[in-house]
Amino acid sequence: MTELPEKTPAHGGDVYHLARTLGVELADLLDFSANINPLGFPPGLTGAVQEALGEIVHYPDRRSLKLRAALAAYHHLTPEEILVGNGSTELIYLVARALRPSRGLIVTPAFSEYEHALDLARVPVAFHPTGESDNFTLSAVLEPQAGDLVFLAHPASPSGVLLDPELFLRVAARCDATGAYLLLDEAFVDFVEEASLKIHLGRFPRLMILRSFTKFFGIPGMRLGFLLGAPELVAHLSGEQEPWSVNTMAQAMGRACLADREYMSQTRTLIKRERQFLFDRLAALSGLSPFPSVVNYLLVKLTRPGMTAATLRQQMLAHRIVIRNAGNFRGLDERFFRIAVRGRKENERLLQALEQCLE
Ligand SMILES: Cc1ncc(COP(=O)(O)O)c(C=O)c1O
Repeated sequence: MTELPEKTPAHGGDVYHLARTLGVELADLLDFSANINPLGFPPGLTGAVQEALGEIVHYPDRRSLKLRAALAAYHHLTPEEILVGNGSTELIYLVARALRPSRGLIVTPAFSEYEHALDLARVPVAFHPTGESDNFTLSAVLEPQAGDLVFLAHPASPSGVLLDPELFLRVAARCDATGAYLLLDEAFVDFVEEASLKIHLGRFPRLMILRSFTKFFGIPGMRLGFLLGAPELVAHLSGEQEPWSVNTMAQAMGRACLADREYMSQTRTLIKRERQFLFDRLAALSGLSPFPSVVNYLLVKLTRPGMTAATLRQQMLAHRIVIRNAGNFRGLDERFFRIAVRGRKENERLLQALEQCLE
């Protein structure tokens, strides 16, 4: 079968391609390379989809009114401050295109789609690197220029470390004063919702916060994300978005996700416990050094000379386990890999396979 050329660097979660290449069934792969809720999606989604099925004879609600109202209630904002998209990735591309920035400034290492979106929009890109001694999170105020579009992830990706809230306020104020836009990517913040910086939205008219249903609610295949921002900015972006990018099923699923508080609290408890379990066990293995994280993934450094993440990934594939080689993140190298936090049995399988590979 013909594979189309890929324009962006490899991501985690490319399981269809991997299964085809390895000649195995999708279900035979244990995927630690994409960071998706191991509980699966909230149980109420099945009923929500069945109900929404009757509505697919109509075009989707272009304004996603019911979903935006539910999001507004959940996040204590107004619907006018919310724009939904076909995954948060669509919104990254929309922002890079619609705001016509004179330059993109990316805090690295970072999700590769920021750079690709800026490239496609013909926007020159600059980088603000963060270092290993800071756990790859921002430690000093940025120096944006007027017209910049700054990309910053909170918690940091791929290290999973929170930003210092005081530093964030200084960065946001600096962006505002210089006339730069700030896109704060909180795609994973649901695991620590209380740490979200959304409470500062009203203070900074050029601040946008990106959120996703993909990771926390376990629906990467559905494509649903949203952006929070000042009503004028949201209205402008909405005017440049393709019509109907969020389908009827996705809108219904989003509402059902937000209604399931028990699933949310079970998820937070599970991830907290399993992250600690994995961190402790990884730290105890000779040759591995995990970074502290508050979300559902762990960045790990291979400390044994000569061992690369690419080799380890290949060896793990023999166990039908997929890990994310993080060597293609700008600012990281072949010693780094990333794993998702999953359920106990799966985490134990991962650890056992890692031990064998490191022997
Ligand atoms: C940091 C970060 N932001 C945004 C996204 C995009 O997620 P989605 O488009 O599924 O909402 C990802 C996906 O991996 C990510 O890692």
